[in-house]
Amino acid sequence: MLMRCPTRTRTVFLMFGSFLLLYHIVLRWRPNFRQQAAIWRLSLANQSCSNADPHLQNMCAQVEFWRFLASCLDANPPGVASPVRKANAEAVSFDAEKSQRPEVLEMPEQDVATMRRAHSRFVQAIEGGFHSIVYTHSTKGFVSTAGGFYFPILMTSLRMLRRTGATLPMEVFLELNSEYESFICEHMLPSLNARCIILSEILEAIPYQLPISHYQLKVFAMAFSSFEEVLFLDADAFPIYDPTRLFNFEPFKSTGLVTWPDFWGPTQSSLFYSVTSQAVPPATNHASTESGEILLSKKKQNKTLILAMYYNYYGPNHFYPLLSQGVAGEGDKETFLAAAHTLHQPYYATRKPVKAIGNFQKGQFAGSAMVQYDPFEENLMKVQPLVRTENALSIPPPRALFVHVNFPKFDPAKIFTYNGIIKFENGTFRRAWGEPLVDFEYDVEEAYWREMNVVSCTMEGKTQGWRGIDHICANATRYYNSVFGAQSAELGSIR
Ligand SMILES: *[C@@H]1O[C@H](CO)[C@@H](O)[C@H](O)[C@H]1NC(C)=O
Ligand SMILES: *[C@@H]1O[C@H](CO)[C@@H](O)[C@H](O)[C@H]1NC(C)=O
Ligand SMILES: *[C@@H]1O[C@H](CO)[C@@H](O)[C@H](O)[C@H]1NC(C)=O
Repeated sequence: MLMRCPTRTRTVFLMFGSFLLLYHIVLRWRPNFRQQAAIWRLSLANQSCSNADPHLQNMCAQVEFWRFLASCLDANPPGVASPVRKANAEAVSFDAEKSQRPEVLEMPEQDVATMRRAHSRFVQAIEGGFHSIVYTHSTKGFVSTAGGFYFPILMTSLRMLRRTGATLPMEVFLELNSEYESFICEHMLPSLNARCIILSEILEAIPYQLPISHYQLKVFAMAFSSFEEVLFLDADAFPIYDPTRLFNFEPFKSTGLVTWPDFWGPTQSSLFYSVTSQAVPPATNHASTESGEILLSKKKQNKTLILAMYYNYYGPNHFYPLLSQGVAGEGDKETFLAAAHTLHQPYYATRKPVKAIGNFQKGQFAGSAMVQYDPFEENLMKVQPLVRTENALSIPPPRALFVHVNFPKFDPAKIFTYNGIIKFENGTFRRAWGEPLVDFEYDVEEAYWREMNVVSCTMEGKTQGWRGIDHICANATRYYNSVFGAQSAELGSIR
């Protein structure tokens, strides 16, 4: 490969590199690394990249892309200490008229300058001859991440997705080989047109310096999926009706990047804009991002995706704090729009605010899920009419499209220990999402528990995440019958 990444002088890089390597070996050495490498050889190299299997072909091509990307990431580290947080930033609701950014980070001028040089070298590499991003042309699909106790949660979400009639394939990324479960990966997921991809098989095919886990996995899952256009869904997020049409209409058609809002106002520190050599945009533009769902064209937004990987690779110590300043949910969430913004790429941040649903406990509202809205209708409103023509009036209000069951996770092996959510104080089972009433097109909560019930009864005793836990199926069934009793007669007949 002739392509090269701009770097600092070789010596500095080698010094820093050896430091990172040492850090990696001393602090991050995972005892199962060798074992993973062995499985990697078995599952990929031995089958060889000349194997005709398209999935294996994708993985082989992704490894080549990653080889280039990793060298470029490692060659351009921030090279300075993390920013220091001198106070806790408060989570303040977004207000399109009054929102202001928190400013609680401190970083010496000199460090900002050092980071700016590294960032600008990486951006130059993206604008120059970078290795192209890998995908199968003209394909669309869903991408998620799971493993361990996230598997049953994902299975419920995936069943909700399939019951909307959505048929596009899903690729489910597992961080490690040890999370592979044959019952799920070879049986349950394929029956719903989904399959497992082990991220470490791609990542660890070549050496790289920093650990990649937790929030960082999402952007790598999107990049290493085989699809050209991706709807990423967190394992605990599902659509209320078929989201496939999002791919074919505005605002995605022209932008190639659509995100959904969080509750809070923008949280980027002005230091982020200083590091990335940009003017600080108005804090009233749009709310912060809630990255439970992301719609992305890898073709149109190829550069954005690569820069987002830089922001995530150097996320935990640098870009996550610069972008979120410790506000609730700090992680990958702001990295996608930040990358698009830095590279002057178009994007659409859905404006209709996220809505919390939950119930009242001891007189206090307790949210347990978030509702996100369809950007299609609000985009029509924007492009058509400030003048209230007949036509404009006929545009329906945005429909509730996604539910993100973020806290607590509705894991039927654990949810019965969060009493307030599913039980009154006197112990009677209750609905979790009774308040406020959202204009769902059907009883989404009933459907969710129905699918959770099927998942509980199919997976109990068969999945690592639930090892040693019994009565999952019995408890979920008891709950369903008690709360949704009228419909319970149908339970026996579902797939
Ligand atoms: C991104 O796509 C454009 C248009 O196809 C191409 O010219 C450019 O080289 C690509 N850049 C990267 C970094 O892949
Ligand atoms: C099932 O319900 C019983 C009785 O409420 C409870 O003690 C037990 O912890 C529950 N088990 C699970 C897995 O939720
Ligand atoms: C438990 O409390 C709820 C809410 O206050 C009430 O509607 C229900 O009837 C009570 N159940 C019993 C068995 O007392």
